[in-house]
Amino acid sequence: SLYPVILSGGSGSRLWPVSRKLHPKPFMRLPDTQTLMAKTFQRASQLRGVSDLLTVTNRDLYFRTRDELDKSLQPDQCLHQHFLLEPCGRNTAPALITAALYLERERQINQYPQAEPCMLVMPADHLITHFEAFQQAVDQAVDLAQAGQLVTFGIQPTQPETGFGYIQAGANHKVKRFVEKPDAATAQSYLDQGDYYWNAGIFCFKPSVLIAEFEQHAPRLLLQARQALESAQELSSQASSGQLKQIELLEQDFRQLDDISIDYALLEKSDQVAVVPCDLGWSDIGSWTAYSELLPQDADGNRIAGDVVALNTHNCFIHSPHHLTATLGIDDLIIINTSDAVLVAHQDQAQEVRQVVSQLTKTG
Ligand code: GDD
Ligand code: MG
Repeated sequence: SLYPVILSGGSGSRLWPVSRKLHPKPFMRLPDTQTLMAKTFQRASQLRGVSDLLTVTNRDLYFRTRDELDKSLQPDQCLHQHFLLEPCGRNTAPALITAALYLERERQINQYPQAEPCMLVMPADHLITHFEAFQQAVDQAVDLAQAGQLVTFGIQPTQPETGFGYIQAGANHKVKRFVEKPDAATAQSYLDQGDYYWNAGIFCFKPSVLIAEFEQHAPRLLLQARQALESAQELSSQASSGQLKQIELLEQDFRQLDDISIDYALLEKSDQVAVVPCDLGWSDIGSWTAYSELLPQDADGNRIAGDVVALNTHNCFIHSPHHLTATLGIDDLIIINTSDAVLVAHQDQAQEVRQVVSQLTKTG
């Protein structure tokens, strides 16, 4: 069976000023008004064989996250909800090893009822438009995961993007090499070679396999995660859809864990990595450019959302949900007009928006 683990923790700083610390990317609404997180919960709960779902997120976002989940479920759907709550972000390796230890402990408590379920790691801030293709890829991934593999999902790359992991595929789903965030020249050489995929950031493995791999490649992190889970406070109750469990990690213990992603901590090192190539209509909405592509383009090449008057304006993306924005005689700009901040950026600076955020954090 299948156990979705929803990851929600990154801040999405390239989507400032809509994405903020207390309003991070998973809570962003797409042009169809649904949040990325609600879409992720729907996708997870609609997969075959799902009866439990674990969400790993910051404790400050707990109530809003639960709201999104409740809104995403069918009225009669039975689903046990588990929340692993972090006091601070430590990146994906700590989040995932703690999740695996929790699932392993749950199975012990229930005295190992059936076959070990596979964790399906799903980032809460991605878009997948082909659900059927996703279900099929998950089915393949589960078979490989049952056989002891750490399964990744491979997306056909279209440009030498440096923000992704690259997966070199061998025969029979085996991964020859995993490289996280290569520089532009290296990424281009992977594209030219033709046997590399982008890592979608979705993973499937048995908790016991993840734990064994951490034992080998990151034993300190495993030990610290065990301690953090041991001191965590657990609350159990009944929700309308099923059981509700909250596990709150204590700051003094969880803060000790190394801040590192699963990609660097494990996938680059392990020789048990497999890949399922797939065409999911996948996007991680990594920048305003990616977001704007969800909107239709008008005759002048503009993509516009909200209250906008655009005259003699070409190839611009203008997002203005609360106020009127008027433009005259401009080209190639991104304009994001929110209730308390305005971003005006050149289209080719979309990746650099995170610099604004680091500048703001520096100056307070
Ligand atoms: N709970 C929790 N805690 N979730 C976290 C944390 C954390 O401390 N840090 C990150 N996440 C969540 C993010 O919200 C996101 O959904 C997912 O984990 C991945 O983290 P990112 O920070 O967005 O990683 P990335 O985009 O730089 O790189 C990863 O994703 C790419 C695809 O989008 C890597 O796996 C790459 O290899 C991959 O190509
Ligand atoms: Mg990401």
